[in-house]
Amino acid sequence: MYEEMDKTYVLHTYPRNYVNFKEGRNATLFDEKGRDYIDFTSGIGVVSVGHGNARLANVIYEQAKNLIHTSNLFLIEPQAKLAKRISELSGMDVGVFFANSGAEANEGAIKLARKYGQKHFKNKRYKVLTLEHSFHGRTITTVKATGQSSFHKNDFAPYPDGFSFHDQIKNLLSAIDDETVAVMIELVQGEGGVQPLDKKAVKELASTLKEKGLLLIVDEVQTGVYR
Ligand SMILES: Cc1ncc(COP(=O)(O)O)c(C=O)c1O
Repeated sequence: MYEEMDKTYVLHTYPRNYVNFKEGRNATLFDEKGRDYIDFTSGIGVVSVGHGNARLANVIYEQAKNLIHTSNLFLIEPQAKLAKRISELSGMDVGVFFANSGAEANEGAIKLARKYGQKHFKNKRYKVLTLEHSFHGRTITTVKATGQSSFHKNDFAPYPDGFSFHDQIKNLLSAIDDETVAVMIELVQGEGGVQPLDKKAVKELASTLKEKGLLLIVDEVQTGVYR
């Protein structure tokens, strides 16, 4: 019944498996027939504290029954507290940008890189280089940043300029030209098949970019928050 409802009313952008999960406890899921599953998918790698986490549920409940949304136009006390905590835990001198999704986080990083290119280079560098088999999101820009041609369907054309992908870090480095402002990588490629990058090559990439005054964007959407 719900499968039919889904097929009739949901706009389908994903192939879907019709298992109907009704309950979750930590890493175990139960479908409508009570069958249990170990959740290795973990919401595509994002359910860091498991299902039915009482502490998380209570915090969400306490907030939702009070202030639900006031917008970025006003001070948001819990946001300031969380930003301070994340910044301190990171051990770096960083400001925190809160986004609704991985794609939005990457869009934000690309915008920051372009702004940096506008500000610091006379010729206003804007190009962002990425790696083959990467995945950076499903918005028009992040889909173009994604290093898989199968994602660049004509259905969504034209795409923004300034993105190219390369099969290995060595070739990424040689593709840097006088319009390049940043390189964006996943340290462990997720959609690319759980492929860790070579640590030494990443370190070399980071120091070369630093020498040139260019930016390294690390997409930690899959690997962040200690996952
Ligand atoms: C490495 C990486 N970046 C970005 C994204 C996009 O995240 P979201 O689906 O939250 O927009 C994903 C999603 O799987 C991802 O794996």
